[in-house]
Amino acid sequence: MKASASGKIILFGEHAVVYNRPALAVPVTQVHVDVEVLDSPRAGIFINAPGINLHAGLNALPADHPIGSVILKLFQHCGISQTPGLEINIVSSIPVAAGLGSGAAVSVALIRALSSFLLCPLSDDEINLLVYESEKYHHGTPSGIDNTVITYAMPVYFIKGKPIEIFKVGKPFTIVIGDTGIPAPTKESVSDLRRMWLKDSTTFEEFFNEIAQIALIARRSIESGKPELLGDLMDHNHSLLQEMTISSPELDKLVEAARNAGALGAKLSGSGRGGNMIALVEQAKAESVAGALMSTGATRTIITEIS
Ligand code: PMV
Repeated sequence: MKASASGKIILFGEHAVVYNRPALAVPVTQVHVDVEVLDSPRAGIFINAPGINLHAGLNALPADHPIGSVILKLFQHCGISQTPGLEINIVSSIPVAAGLGSGAAVSVALIRALSSFLLCPLSDDEINLLVYESEKYHHGTPSGIDNTVITYAMPVYFIKGKPIEIFKVGKPFTIVIGDTGIPAPTKESVSDLRRMWLKDSTTFEEFFNEIAQIALIARRSIESGKPELLGDLMDHNHSLLQEMTISSPELDKLVEAARNAGALGAKLSGSGRGGNMIALVEQAKAESVAGALMSTGATRTIITEIS
């Protein structure tokens, strides 16, 4: 049994989304996780995930291991106490700890493949809830945006705790994604920000309110077929994230390089301090912006069309 899940980018609203402000995220189908579940002659469950150098039996994993815990949560949900011998192969082209949703995508693909194999079909809502639980191991206090956009594989306007809103893209637009190559655990920037917010909540609440306005206007621009307006909004969102100490010199360099190469706007995407940035470009300029990012130190670029 096989299943896949795509990566994602956050267009607007990362971090503020943890504080109940809206954020926009879209799937990125150029990178994905593929999971295969096979019968195995040996007893127990064996997991191969070469990308993270994991070749181990489920029993050998620590209780809080993100992959092990997803499997156990699924068994619990489906009322399964014993399984035949299984082999689970996980192959991913999504970089880890880079803001592209690698953890959530592994969980979604794994739950889909395993639940089908075990004849326990699940709805997207059930998958989303199970993946949210597993996100806590990656994120600490996740907003739920990653599991939501990856489970439903649609553009989402997300507010923590509110019903999911899918948004329409009035006119397709092109985004170039640039990877700093620096892994940056989401847990750390999220908890740093929480410390800063506890110290000076007035300032940070203002940042979050401004970002919420940006996300709101961005959604309207996208839905009404005026994606070119997103450029300035990205620049503004990035400068707020800089003030919140969420950017890094490497991210700033790539953002600047994209703008100098003709992007309409650029910002970091995801938890920041490393990982990926995104730039809005006219389609014809996508290759040259991607080239500029590579010559400024990006380790990889992806050109994706949001439609
Ligand atoms: O997993 P990342 O790097 O895309 O970060 C998730 C976005 C945050 O807003 C920073 C955290 C969250 O849970 O929403």
